[in-house]
Amino acid sequence: MRALMSDEPGGPETLQLLDVPEPVAAAGQILIAVKACGVNYPDLLMIQDLYQVKAPRPFAPGAEIAGVVTALGPDVTQFSVGDRVAARIGTGGMAEAVAVDVSRCAPIPDGMSFVDAAVTQFTFETALYALRNRAAVKPGETVLVLGAGGGVGIAAVQVGRNMGARVIAAASSEDKLAFARKHGAADGVLYPPSAPADRKAVSRQFKAALGAGADVVIDPVGGWLTDVAIRCVADGGRYVVLGFTAGIPSLPLNLPLLKNCDVLGVNWRAFTLTQAEAVHDNKRELMRWFAEGRLSSGITAEYALADGARAIQQLANRSAVGKIVVII
Ligand SMILES: NC(=O)c1ccc[n+]([C@@H]2O[C@H](COP(=O)([O-])OP(=O)(O)OC[C@H]3O[C@@H](n4cnc5c(N)ncnc54)[C@H](OP(=O)(O)O)[C@@H]3O)[C@@H](O)[C@H]2O)c1
Repeated sequence: MRALMSDEPGGPETLQLLDVPEPVAAAGQILIAVKACGVNYPDLLMIQDLYQVKAPRPFAPGAEIAGVVTALGPDVTQFSVGDRVAARIGTGGMAEAVAVDVSRCAPIPDGMSFVDAAVTQFTFETALYALRNRAAVKPGETVLVLGAGGGVGIAAVQVGRNMGARVIAAASSEDKLAFARKHGAADGVLYPPSAPADRKAVSRQFKAALGAGADVVIDPVGGWLTDVAIRCVADGGRYVVLGFTAGIPSLPLNLPLLKNCDVLGVNWRAFTLTQAEAVHDNKRELMRWFAEGRLSSGITAEYALADGARAIQQLANRSAVGKIVVII
């Protein structure tokens, strides 16, 4: 089978499309012919050896897939050959086939495309875990989403809106803000692509859009923006730490004290490994919202497997808007 392989740590240019042996479904696994693989920022971190989880090389990047079951491992009864399934897999998705533990797989609802099924796992489940299980957002609260035009960002905008929050999007380009508004943000704030000399001016812009402040901030960006955004939290608010595309910031602890606010870490992977029932509940809620037309996968670009490196490169150079998918 063909797979886009990482043989040595490095950027997307180090990936190679190779013929490799097809995996075999072991006990408790199914073999899936991959049809679509969502592209996520951690794919970029994984191939550079910068992610908290390291995969043994060689491996293919790609953490979320959808496809068709082509073989069952010994003792597997939950699925049949021919079933349409979606799976969270960490790595291995940018390949024609992957063997996956059944605990990581779910049937694709009738009427849902492979593309939508593939890309509505990683970012949407992370966003719902962050907003529901960690921040406990209530209807009418104001949620500020940083990097709102990215994958996690656009998912958080939509999930927040579906939970009844007033969502304010923040992003580095008008295109990304327009995309977030189209997906339910009530308002948008443009921030400069890198730290400006006058950060207080950006804080003032945020405060003007937020009014009484943000009850919840969703931060998948970090870097200089964290200091600016935490100054805009309302009394008793929650600052939700999701990721660091702009770098890992240091937080002066006088700020949570002054704001009387909580700083909440989100580790969605740990959640998926330890809280099966809650993970299942969240998945069911997302599938219901999709079926009711209340969420959109936000796809703006599709790439062939041979061009998977270019797909990851779009995240590396910050040009991706919404969600990107590799079609196999
Ligand atoms: N904690 C968890 O469990 C969890 C789960 C999933 C993902 N994540 C993390 O969430 C973050 C976002 O992932 P994603 O897949 O949504 O990524 P993405 O689609 O690439 O979006 C990330 C956004 O970060 C902003 N950004 C700022 N500086 C950047 C830079 N130097 N390079 C690239 N982007 C930059 C960009 O928005 P602007 O241009 O508008 O600033 C971009 O749209 C990642 O750090 C990922 O590891 C965490």
